[in-house]
Amino acid sequence: MTSTAVAHPNIALVKYWGKADADLALPATGSVSMGLDVFPTTTSVTLTGQQGHDAFTLNGRVVDDGALVRVERFLDLVRELAGSDARAEVVSDNTVPTGAGLASSASGFAALAVAAADAYGLDLSARDLSRLARRGSGSATRSIPGGVSVWHAGDDQASFAETVPAPPMAMVVVTIDDGPKEIGSREAMRRTIATSPFYPAWVTSTTVTVDDMLAACAAGDFTRIGELTESNALRMHATIEGAFPPIRYLNSRSVAVFDAVAAMRADGLEAYATADAGPNVVVLCRPEDRARVASALDGYGAVIESGTGPAAHLLRSEGSGENPEAEESTR
Ligand code: DP6
Repeated sequence: MTSTAVAHPNIALVKYWGKADADLALPATGSVSMGLDVFPTTTSVTLTGQQGHDAFTLNGRVVDDGALVRVERFLDLVRELAGSDARAEVVSDNTVPTGAGLASSASGFAALAVAAADAYGLDLSARDLSRLARRGSGSATRSIPGGVSVWHAGDDQASFAETVPAPPMAMVVVTIDDGPKEIGSREAMRRTIATSPFYPAWVTSTTVTVDDMLAACAAGDFTRIGELTESNALRMHATIEGAFPPIRYLNSRSVAVFDAVAAMRADGLEAYATADAGPNVVVLCRPEDRARVASALDGYGAVIESGTGPAAHLLRSEGSGENPEAEESTR
């Protein structure tokens, strides 16, 4: 049978940068994100047989490098939970620019978690799916629930993501460079922890910012959400730049977008910039302002508007009937 799931990327308002436990993929701090309604990943999982390897096709190309190893390790976890030794064929269509710091692994592992859990007959709650997705990629934890979500720090059981109340918001993604980044976030996190003198302060301050962000979201205070978002992004980049040898993800074109966003605010258009592990910049704004923000940023890169996205969910499950978890994980 084939199980197919869809998931969307998320952009952190308060970033996850660093693990407390690499084996269990436990984060050093909590984080908060907004799910996008653009760049979906659609993934199908079909059980094949007991022998050989898993197969992975991404965007029509057979994958046989490190990405396959990561998928196989993830499927090993699913097989362990299911008590199965069946191999699987994974076919994924990822519309996120892969590896460019736009959370391709988040939507990728969230879609894989939902599809694989169904294919292997696991009956997982949305929290369980979020814990499972975490083992594939940290940010995937937050692509299981929809809307604005918090990913809790803590032990294996406590560390899942869930939707929190928040005001309506939109994002404008400015893609400056859609090629793969020079240093992946996993390795960059390790180097930051090992060598950046700013890392302990990052952990202490981000722990406070998560609580401040959740309070601002609950109060519907868009201005405070925006201010915290931009500040936390710049703190993360400062911490990363403090690594040795240094790592710098933002380039002059990224900084130009931060400047343009500051100029918008000075003109009374409220928008705030953030960026993940790459040069691309994502701008947070009110839904009613997204077209104005997008047109003001036209020319800085390829501009795409996004609203708040849905939870990861099962699209279809051939040969197994309906999955009750699809309903729960769609919320
Ligand atoms: C900068 O989730 O890609 O986007 O857990 O090692 O797979 P791994 O890392 P990943 O890191 C994302 C880092 C970030 C910030 C964020 O999304 O919170």
